[in-house]
Amino acid sequence: MTPYAQVQLLSSATKEWSITEILTYLTGQFPGQVSFSSSFGQEDQVLTDMIAQEGLEIKIFTLDTGRLFQETYDVFDRTKRKYDLDIQAYYPAAKELGEMVSQEGPNSFYFGIKERKKCCRIRKLEPLRRALKGNKIWVTGLRSGQSANRQELPKFEYDEQFKVIKFNPLLDWELAAVQVYLEKYNVPQNSLHKKGFVSIGCAPCTRAIEPGDDIRAGRWWWEGSHKECGLHK
Ligand code: ADX
Ligand code: SF4
Repeated sequence: MTPYAQVQLLSSATKEWSITEILTYLTGQFPGQVSFSSSFGQEDQVLTDMIAQEGLEIKIFTLDTGRLFQETYDVFDRTKRKYDLDIQAYYPAAKELGEMVSQEGPNSFYFGIKERKKCCRIRKLEPLRRALKGNKIWVTGLRSGQSANRQELPKFEYDEQFKVIKFNPLLDWELAAVQVYLEKYNVPQNSLHKKGFVSIGCAPCTRAIEPGDDIRAGRWWWEGSHKECGLHK
């Protein structure tokens, strides 16, 4: 079966199922080949809580770019301890990273889109490729409400870039529902959310937003681009 046919089948078969029912089914269908990427954002924390509560056999991994906020490492640490989870950290390749920083300096991402994308490629995309190697299913915390680009996303899709089926379980959740879940189950949260940060990535490329701003307005705010790093096309 082609991955596209598989996507169609999964979408129609699981339409009425709960998130944990779908995740349980996927781990049964693809044992050892289901991975969830977490940046410890609010959506990711909901999914980590569900995975931990159900004891699902899903690899949880994070891309540690080396430029994350201390507050993000704190929520990483609190999450790991609360649930006693093995959260696998992936790092940029030392050689490529060393060459970029040596040649272009530590803040090259501010100089232009080309430089910024190169940094994202080295620090995020290439480690993601390694993290997803050998996997069938990539679970993410994407929501339609996060940006205009994400409004048309399906729950299941074939990702040509990484050659995996991507599952976005929280796609149709509102941010308020995410926050209610986190409070209800006392899930660890990034303390930056209380300081006006909504979408949180690397520290030098993320800032707080004002009420009413687009959720992703604080990411790469100096660029007029579509504000994506390339993880999600
Ligand atoms: S990004 O493309 O702009 O960086 P965003 O921060 O909105 O993505 O997060 C969307 C989803 O991408 C997260 O729910 C998570 O699944 C994945 N993701 C983003 N950044 C990381 C990261 N550093 N480590 C692991 N997963 C990540
Ligand atoms: Fe580099 Fe900024 Fe992309 Fe992080 S978000 S990988 S620091 S350009």
